Amino acid sequence: MNHLLKLLDLSPAEITEILNLADQLKYENKHGITHHHLAGKALGMIFQKASTRTRVSFEVGMYQLGGKALFLSSHDLQIGRGEPVEDTARVLSRYLDGIMIRTFQQAEVEALAQWGSVPIINGLTDFCHPCQVLADLMTIREKKGALQGLKLCFIGDGNNMMNSLIVGGLKTGMEVSVAYPAGYEPAETVLAFARETGRFSSFDDPQKAAADADVVITDVWASMGQEDEAEKRKAAFAGYQINEGLMARAKSDAMVLHCLPAHRGEEITADIFESHADEIFEEAENRLHAQKAVMVKLMK
Ligand code: CP
Ligand code: NVA
Repeated sequence: MNHLLKLLDLSPAEITEILNLADQLKYENKHGITHHHLAGKALGMIFQKASTRTRVSFEVGMYQLGGKALFLSSHDLQIGRGEPVEDTARVLSRYLDGIMIRTFQQAEVEALAQWGSVPIINGLTDFCHPCQVLADLMTIREKKGALQGLKLCFIGDGNNMMNSLIVGGLKTGMEVSVAYPAGYEPAETVLAFARETGRFSSFDDPQKAAADADVVITDVWASMGQEDEAEKRKAAFAGYQINEGLMARAKSDAMVLHCLPAHRGEEITADIFESHADEIFEEAENRLHAQKAVMVKLMK
């Protein structure tokens, strides 16, 4: 494993290795045990979109591992003025030991990896959010003991989160069901992979998708960059909400996850959000541990 560009690139064994290391790093973190695995190393973090969790968890994670993280807003980089990604990749590779990038196009992340010579970590594109889903898998495994055989259900937009959860869930042996309105399908490459497994189902009725689920997950209806579609999307996704009625279809001990930020009253009710807040904020914390594991794997 040289990069983390998308979960489709990882084998089930590689995902499990990251989750195991993340658990170990979390244990060490809780017990005050410090290992400076990345002493003297520097991670560049290129952001073309806003971030709270990704930025802070990568920066703190790098600090805890003995390295340094540099916040590089694309507004201030020459890349924002049109310097080609091929050149940016080759220059930054000469200073840095790894690059995390949050941007729009998956192709830009893949180009960084192609032209650069240091590990590239995808911190979210329109296509996928692998770091988030590694933290999600870690959280589910922590609460449920294992992933194999569980049913993961995602309700909402066929966006970066749905794409990555389908792949991550299926690669770790889960059954995955999704529900989305027509016109908001997940990516075709993801669907092609999913259908092959025989453990994937998709519905337009969220009630059907949620039946007997062990984990129910959603995300915002309008992602970053889609703000001008917010009203249209509100209409399209009405009915695709995690609420009491929907949770009644899932298992009685079902977890609820949300990558955050959440829009209460839209994709999830305030009641369901608050009654699962422990899980949702553990999920947010696990970004730190899962990403430290990714950085150690790629950069040590
Ligand atoms: N979930 C997530 O990636 O959060 P941020 O956008 O705050 O980084
Ligand atoms: N789908 C959301 C996830 C935010 C972490 C977005 O892309 O804005």
